[in-house]
Amino acid sequence: FTGLSGSGKSTIAFTVEHALVQRGHLAYTLDGDNIRHGLNKNLGFSAADREENIRRIGEVARLFADTGVITCTSFISPYRKDRGQVRKIHQDAGLAFVEVFVDVPIEVCETRDPKGLYKKARAALAEGKGMGFTGVDDPYEPPSSPELVLRNVNISREQAAIQVLDYLESKGLLGKGL
Ligand code: ADX
Repeated sequence: FTGLSGSGKSTIAFTVEHALVQRGHLAYTLDGDNIRHGLNKNLGFSAADREENIRRIGEVARLFADTGVITCTSFISPYRKDRGQVRKIHQDAGLAFVEVFVDVPIEVCETRDPKGLYKKARAALAEGKGMGFTGVDDPYEPPSSPELVLRNVNISREQAAIQVLDYLESKGLLGKGL
């Protein structure tokens, strides 16, 4: 799941994970809370650190997937090239990779602003400092050909998750479960 901060990536990813587990699949979600506070706690938000963040997440996701776990990853992952690289290491290993673009206009993300970070970023920008916040004063490169686009505006987390589950099902990626 790639998209701006506040687009709802993690909410959807966890809803998908729970639905899959309920149906007897092994599923797990990697997101900022379990990765940036642990494995990647030495990384910040410079371009180089964001690249390394996504590289490590990609490698961990590949290992998880290799054990048969359906692995949801929820990160802004702002750079097309880095997402392409993660796609490549999965495909090279014969593992399915599904890029889900959680497409929410920045104005809507800013209204939600669950952590108050957009407000902070705008204030920093107004003071001429800037904090390199994605979508405000740092780039976000939308996917050019994602497997799935979720316009996560005015729909419930369940409605969004169902679109992902339907996609997985339609591609025969769910198998029989446990
Ligand atoms: S990524 O760009 O490296 O993929 P990641 O998804 O791990 O980002 O982390 C994004 C989260 O970190 C945001 O949802 C937000 O809560 C927080 N954050 C803190 N500083 C920034 C920043 N400068 N740009 C974007 N997100 C930030």
